[in-house]
Amino acid sequence: MKLYLIGHPVSHSISPAIQNAALRACGLDGSYELLDTPPVLIAETVASLRQAGVAGGNVTVPHKQAVVPHLDALAPQAARIGAVNTIAHQDGRLVGHNTDAAGFLASVREAGVHPGGMHVVLLGAGGAAHAIAFALVDAGVSKLTVLNRDAHKAKLLVEAVSQTASNGQHVAASGIHAHEMAAALESAQLVVNATTVGMRGNECLVGRELLSSDSVVCDIIYNPAETELLRRARLAGARRITGLGMLVHQAAQAFTIWTGRTAPLAAMYRAATEALKHQEGRR
Ligand code: ATR
Repeated sequence: MKLYLIGHPVSHSISPAIQNAALRACGLDGSYELLDTPPVLIAETVASLRQAGVAGGNVTVPHKQAVVPHLDALAPQAARIGAVNTIAHQDGRLVGHNTDAAGFLASVREAGVHPGGMHVVLLGAGGAAHAIAFALVDAGVSKLTVLNRDAHKAKLLVEAVSQTASNGQHVAASGIHAHEMAAALESAQLVVNATTVGMRGNECLVGRELLSSDSVVCDIIYNPAETELLRRARLAGARRITGLGMLVHQAAQAFTIWTGRTAPLAAMYRAATEALKHQEGRR
């Protein structure tokens, strides 16, 4: 079976290492390859997945929302979130799924954190934040505060999520100015960074003084493994969750959609860790 990753750029992705390791571990004959796809080529690239022998693929930045009109159907979770990270191909039909939401929850729970009943602060209102916001509401958080640099985008995300929130759940939006950050974090038990801030250098949106040993801090960035946010969380004595778990769990759920098999999680974690080490060595 052939699988592809559609994104732009994709050359640094470690998904091929993770998925090819999973195929090998299950004794399946197949390959997972990169398809670097500039936005103008999205329609024809997605259409190419309809070929015989192609089981589907993943979709990453910046195409998770743009692929939607090119698919034949959406699984319910992808339709709610409005974004697709996994495409399954069967007999010429392409179905879009979103495994980011379930992958996020699986990784948080694997770390022993159960968001049900918690007050959660979510930083970001982009594609990743959308999946996570729906996942958190489904997990039964008592309060979700979405903070974003563009506060209007936070408001739109909150409006969308509120439609599926239950009566007792409070969902609110805010900007990321210092006073807004301080107010939101005051009573937060879990802080999730779903912005791209932290991928480079020592940039961080959250002041060290706002974190305490009672907080749980999750950064969905997996490279670098210790972002500035996670470094500050360590100094504050907070419990920490890196983005590696979400990456591996969304991959595992996609693998199960394509193959019908239980994903070999240990082999996928090993491959992800080795691929990241290899990338660090080349820097
Ligand atoms: P993804 O699909 O990975 O979520 P995205 O949709 O481009 O990527 O979203 C990026 C997120 O990081 C957004 O929430 C963005 O904030 P804006 O909506 O205000 O653009 C956030 N982000 C990126 N750079 C930022 C910065 N320097 N400061 C604060 N937020 C930033």
